Amino acid sequence: MSKIKSVIIATGSYLPSKIVTNDDLSKTVETSDEWIFERTGIKKRHIAAEGELTSDLASQAALQAIKSCEKTISAKEIDLIIVATTTPDLTFPATATTLQAKIGASNAFAFDVQAVCSGFVYALNIADNFIKSGQVRNALVVGAETLSRIVDWSDRNSCVLFGDGAGAVILEATTDNNRGILASKLSSDGSLNEILKTDGGPSFNQKAGFINMAGREVFKHAVDKMTKSVIDALALANLKTSDIDLLVPHQANARILASVASKLGLTDDKIILTVQDHANTSAASIPLALDYANKNKRLKKEDLIVLEALGGGLTWGSIIIRW
Ligand code: ACO
Repeated sequence: MSKIKSVIIATGSYLPSKIVTNDDLSKTVETSDEWIFERTGIKKRHIAAEGELTSDLASQAALQAIKSCEKTISAKEIDLIIVATTTPDLTFPATATTLQAKIGASNAFAFDVQAVCSGFVYALNIADNFIKSGQVRNALVVGAETLSRIVDWSDRNSCVLFGDGAGAVILEATTDNNRGILASKLSSDGSLNEILKTDGGPSFNQKAGFINMAGREVFKHAVDKMTKSVIDALALANLKTSDIDLLVPHQANARILASVASKLGLTDDKIILTVQDHANTSAASIPLALDYANKNKRLKKEDLIVLEALGGGLTWGSIIIRW
């Protein structure tokens, strides 16, 4: 009998309408379009409107995924909702349950995952395991962030890097041997939590805090760890880097992505790069890039697609998908 696997049957995304360019930022902090683009590949970021919450962004992305699904699916048919976010609407309840109510997915159970920029990879792996175990038939997995709310807009070291947005996928159980998630590799190292963190939290000082980062150290760990993670995940599926058709990485920084791609021996045509348009949207960046790739017909049935991310924690991971 064929084993149950998870196949992605829909993608969706949402970016808030307000755009802040590098030139706009250069009017408020000492920076320039040239400095930001050269170091990061970023040209602009989208910023949520006042009163627009992470769950609102998540709802827009989720509804778009439901609408664009390969097969007709209603919100009421969704069994499981996971939202990966570092910027929940509230400390509790989970943003996922708020999303559940907003889209009317009344038959699902819902919870959040917090693994910062690796959140979507973690959430997808969790949903995949729920499907493989037979506990659920389908799952809505969303990465959604309003990072602009935890950015210190007077700190040029960090404010140029981040933006708001959301992306969503719908997963379904399949017994098709030729499609589905083949392998996942998740890792973390809490001894590195000081190099990328906020300076606040409910238990620590009853504040959300602002992002603090040792940029160079994060850069080095990101390149080394994501490269190894991809190779390890491929090995779990008896595959190698030359089998990759498309890499859809966490969109942190174009230089990090170029270094990882070069270490993996991948040419530019095998990488999805969207960071120029929305900056680093943390857990939202992979599903945003996946939806971009899907809409641009870059995801071909049975192609080998690789997702990879690294974020605060440090956390990192990779997922191998036969699309
Ligand atoms: N504009 C102009 N100058 C700046 C800016 C800015 N926005 N930010 C910093 N500088 C200055 C610094 O003050 C410093 O000046 P000094 O030499 O007079 O002290 C100089 O530029 C060099 O600073 P560095 O931090 O050493 O610059 P670096 O070349 O390392 O680039 C960057 C900084 C872009 C943050 C880089 O380290 C990086 O990309 N790190 C990865 C971080 C990242 O992507 N984090 C996202 C979260 S983690 C993740 O998603 C993987």
